[in-house]
Amino acid sequence: MSTTTDDVDTKKPTEIFRLDYKPLDLIVSKINMDFNIRDGKTIVESEMFIEKNPKLLENDWDPNAIHDLVLDGDETSITLLEVTLDGKVLKEGDDYALDSTKLIIKNPPSGSLLKTRVSIVPEDNTQLSGLYQSSGPMYCTQCEAMGFRRITYYPDRPDNMAVFERIRLEADKENYPILLSNGNLLEEGDVVDTEDGRHYAIWSDPYPKPSYLFAIVAGKLGKISDSYTTSPSGRKVDLNIYSDPKDAHKLQYAMTSLKNSMDWDQTRYGLEYDLDLYNIVAVDSFNMGAMENKGLNVFNTAYVLADPETATDSDYERVEAVIGHEYFHNWTGNRVTCRDWFQLTLKEGLTVFRDQEFSGDMNSAAVKRIEGVQMLRASQFAQDAGPMSHSIRPNSYISMDNFYTATVYNKGAEIIRMYQTLVGVDGFRKGMDLYFERHDGSAVTCDEFLSAMSDANNIDLSQFSNWYSTPGTPIVTYEHSYSSDTKKWTLTLTQSSESTLGPLHIPISIGLLDKTSGEEVLSTTVLNLKEETQVFEFDDIDRDVIPSLLRGFSAPIKLIPADGASVDEKALAYLAARDTDGFNKWESTQALSTSLIFQVMNDSDDSVELLGDDAFYSSKTWTYVQEAFERTLENYDSNDYSILAYALTLPSQGSLTELIDTGDDVDPIAIHTARGNVKKSLARKFQIQLKKRYDSLTDDGDVEFKVDSTSIGRRLLRNVCLQYLCSISTTEEEQTIAAALAKNHYETATCMTDKVSALNCLASMDGSAAASVVNDRDEIIQRFYEEANGDALVLDKWFAIQAMADLPDILDRVKALKEHPDFTLKNPNRCRSLIGGFTANPGGFHAANGDGYKFVRSVLEELDPINASVSSRLSSSLITWKKYNFESRGKLMKNELEELSKLTPISDDLFEIVSKGLN
Ligand code: BES
Ligand code: ZN
Repeated sequence: MSTTTDDVDTKKPTEIFRLDYKPLDLIVSKINMDFNIRDGKTIVESEMFIEKNPKLLENDWDPNAIHDLVLDGDETSITLLEVTLDGKVLKEGDDYALDSTKLIIKNPPSGSLLKTRVSIVPEDNTQLSGLYQSSGPMYCTQCEAMGFRRITYYPDRPDNMAVFERIRLEADKENYPILLSNGNLLEEGDVVDTEDGRHYAIWSDPYPKPSYLFAIVAGKLGKISDSYTTSPSGRKVDLNIYSDPKDAHKLQYAMTSLKNSMDWDQTRYGLEYDLDLYNIVAVDSFNMGAMENKGLNVFNTAYVLADPETATDSDYERVEAVIGHEYFHNWTGNRVTCRDWFQLTLKEGLTVFRDQEFSGDMNSAAVKRIEGVQMLRASQFAQDAGPMSHSIRPNSYISMDNFYTATVYNKGAEIIRMYQTLVGVDGFRKGMDLYFERHDGSAVTCDEFLSAMSDANNIDLSQFSNWYSTPGTPIVTYEHSYSSDTKKWTLTLTQSSESTLGPLHIPISIGLLDKTSGEEVLSTTVLNLKEETQVFEFDDIDRDVIPSLLRGFSAPIKLIPADGASVDEKALAYLAARDTDGFNKWESTQALSTSLIFQVMNDSDDSVELLGDDAFYSSKTWTYVQEAFERTLENYDSNDYSILAYALTLPSQGSLTELIDTGDDVDPIAIHTARGNVKKSLARKFQIQLKKRYDSLTDDGDVEFKVDSTSIGRRLLRNVCLQYLCSISTTEEEQTIAAALAKNHYETATCMTDKVSALNCLASMDGSAAASVVNDRDEIIQRFYEEANGDALVLDKWFAIQAMADLPDILDRVKALKEHPDFTLKNPNRCRSLIGGFTANPGGFHAANGDGYKFVRSVLEELDPINASVSSRLSSSLITWKKYNFESRGKLMKNELEELSKLTPISDDLFEIVSKGLN
């Protein structure tokens, strides 16, 4: 995983290329393993059955040639003790070659049995890849993408599918009473013939799988159990979710979500679960969100534990989504897996799409779509605009861990969504059926998915396939006209992208609304944009219309008016009020607010609030924004509270940043200030209505805590009102009132969502005009800490909220928090809360003197040797320097990257991001 000081001059990290793919000559077709777990040392014995790769064609195999067996192994993690082939002890040099990343067995015959014995030290594994210790203590594994090679020598690539037939775990019974692996439990018992107190379990997984889906867990765990009977087969599946015993009461929501996922996949795709057991284990220290290991998912506690005292509504939503995601992988990922890691989007893009559809069906489809697009724009568009831009099927990587990206995942999901838009929901289902019919049990490429969709629907998707090889966000420009004489409405679309294979096939959903009545003249229709420029003509349109373009965000593109024309704000205002497409209705309000924020940023003296600035208040854009805001705020008829809340929420700092395309002149503080000023102006203008809405939502509160869409939406809308109200805080009186409101919100809160929301407001109050506010703020910060009572996930929130506070001395605060006894770089969640939170804080991270960048660099230096996967992820905050004015910020950010590049040793993960960031 890392390059050590000794070989830093001699060994450059190697880059792997997609087009270099070669099938294996020899594979491991079956494996038995024995884990002897002891404090400070675990011995792993493996028996591997070697076979000629059955996928090879006859003329790909020369019976007279030498066929070496190449096993991957990471010498920083494993020590080789012994190798035997068919009972004979092998000698280094004569029979095998060993280097820091490989064990090569010379020409073993097909049909031979290879045995290895290695030792590993999970207790020292801070990288959290391979077998490691998490708090509890417990042992657990993370093998995707390349963790299995940190456990034993093996062809650690997804096209080696093997039956893991007999996995034996042995450990101390008192400390590790629960022993789990994939598949079914064959046998368990006490070890009688050795010293006291040890026990074992033997597991077997009948489904062939790649090594990245392997898992074991050993620990003292609490659990909840349930069962599910599949349909139509009627298989009874035992469901268990394990966690630290003290958290077991927080597992019920995950269990319900699991059963809902099982139902949904049966109903929507006819897919049933295929083992008699489904286990999930929650672990404290985990690099990612969760992992779909066959029959034994391992979850970051943050995505499985949920109860009203500790989880916010978004936490609940994420638990449901992640449980669904990992469950859906059982078919899209496990039964049909990836041939090589360049195909990652085959399983991840598809499974993200499936989890999005699941969440949409369980809650509100429009809300889910809004959240999905917000996320895509803020992180994926940003990635595509920077040095890590890559296509959803990348061409090369140094560290695969760096390619679990918003592009592969979220843009990948958009590509899948486009198939569905093109062939319809039923056509998509037919394509999925054919995909499973053809490829169940194999490791395939994205091309196979495309062929299944194309063949099942009898359509030509060859041009569509360009999406897989095109990085960057395509731009589509539009222009339209209407002739009352010919009754023709004409739309001209022009695309530009980084495609090297000609134009992309882009589905553009549109609708047309009557310009006066708002009546839908053309309901949602999908246009196939295939040429660079294409003219679409609509006949028999007997009145002028307002088009609603890119409905439901039918393609991951930027849609802008042709020839640099500015957007028609009048049309946006119209759509904000009347569009029948829920997504576009919201989109129009966002576009108007964006335009207003940019005007404020460019025109006004940004240090003043807009109160009383008559010229501004009478501007057209302001009027449109205000009308839309008021209409939403005063809409007491709808109980679709989440939609109302999203319509009232201004576009995020991330999505605003991404919309500026002046090349190198983004000023994050100016964006932040302008956004803040628009927010305050709206708050002042509608103070009375906001308070009225807030109060009425308070009165409507559920007596009992519920997590249904209506209750979640009600809390969200109420908290949006609270944020606006708290932003009115210039004078002493205003500051006192805002603090009192937030404090009361906190004190009367009956759930974590409201506590977090109140603390968020308070954390940014500087008491500049009212010193007492500082006491209120600090008192609630302290109370939140005490009420957390040591709960790790609540403490994560405590760190994150403070790290994101808008306070002048934020850097000193974050530095102090880093020294807090509850802070540790070893736990990824904690690290992301404080350090990740800080990198998302425009005032702190982007402070003009560069101290924010410097601080992050120094943390990365400390973190990289501990956990390369987390350090490289956090380092991406620094690689966007080209966006910012070089003299004021770009240079400072770049300097820190240059400092980082000198780090020795440096992990491959961090090296890749830093060097791409510098080029
Ligand atoms: N297979 C991944 C987990 C993973 C990613 C392991 C990278 C190792 C390296 C899993 O299915 C996944 O995608 N998890 C996501 C959450 C999901 C809801 C998008 C994650 O962990 O963030
Ligand atoms: Zn996944």
